[in-house]
Amino acid sequence: MTSLDVRALVAGYDRSTVLDGIDLSVAEGGALGLLGRNGVGKSTLVMTLMGLVVPTSGHVLLGDRDVAGLRPDLIARAGVAIVPQGRRIWAPLTVRETLTLATRGHGRRWTVDAVLDLLPRLRERFGQQAGQLSGGEQQMLAIARALLTDPAVLLLDEPSDGLAPAIVDQIAALLRTLRGEGVTMLLVEQDLHLAFAVCDEIAVMEKGRIVHRVSTPEFRADRATAHRLLGVA
Ligand SMILES: Nc1ncnc2c1ncn2[C@@H]1O[C@H](COP(=O)(O)OP(=O)(O)O)[C@@H](O)[C@H]1O
Ligand SMILES: [Mg+2]
Repeated sequence: MTSLDVRALVAGYDRSTVLDGIDLSVAEGGALGLLGRNGVGKSTLVMTLMGLVVPTSGHVLLGDRDVAGLRPDLIARAGVAIVPQGRRIWAPLTVRETLTLATRGHGRRWTVDAVLDLLPRLRERFGQQAGQLSGGEQQMLAIARALLTDPAVLLLDEPSDGLAPAIVDQIAALLRTLRGEGVTMLLVEQDLHLAFAVCDEIAVMEKGRIVHRVSTPEFRADRATAHRLLGVA
């Protein structure tokens, strides 16, 4: 188990700074829901934490180790995994191939068998190409792929995107099970119901900064603030 502690993180793309000093922490084994309107920089944050966008300055502490600026493969080895927005599944590969490629070694918590026990649907689809799976199954595959790297910290970017409510409920149950395993989570979501079901705290991002952070019960009780920050009831 590892805590995630982001301090004064600045990052962006060639011509623009997107993250304008992000401060954010998730306790060991905790789950933080990150909300915010489109385009405020949530995905950029997740990509920067994974090393896929290189930060300009700031710190990303895993426990007491600063991984800011390291290559993605080294950040993965340090215990971070990403379930990217849009899933980024490679359609021609079968479920078996996708999971085999993601597996890092033996004697770890998450083997292919262990993830298939957790996600029996993928066992049924084992020989099929990822592109033939339903959206929900593809999301499960993206999560399974991340688990096979044995993450202490799991970054999930809108896993509910495009899924029917009943499937989102299955994702919620899965993420709660993973929390029970001690995985630390940062969950970016538009689906408040999912964030509330999984996370003990909620943070809101606006234009590259974290502007609000409270416990999930406090967030739910304060509809005026949710409406002001997100435009939802
Ligand atoms: N690869 C990229 N190159 C340049 N600009 C990008 C890239 N990805 C995102 N952006 C810009 O960064 C800003 C934040 O985008 P993003 O992090 O995707 O926000 P969110 O996930 O909150 O919707 C937006 O203005 C977006 O256009
Ligand atoms: Mg995004």
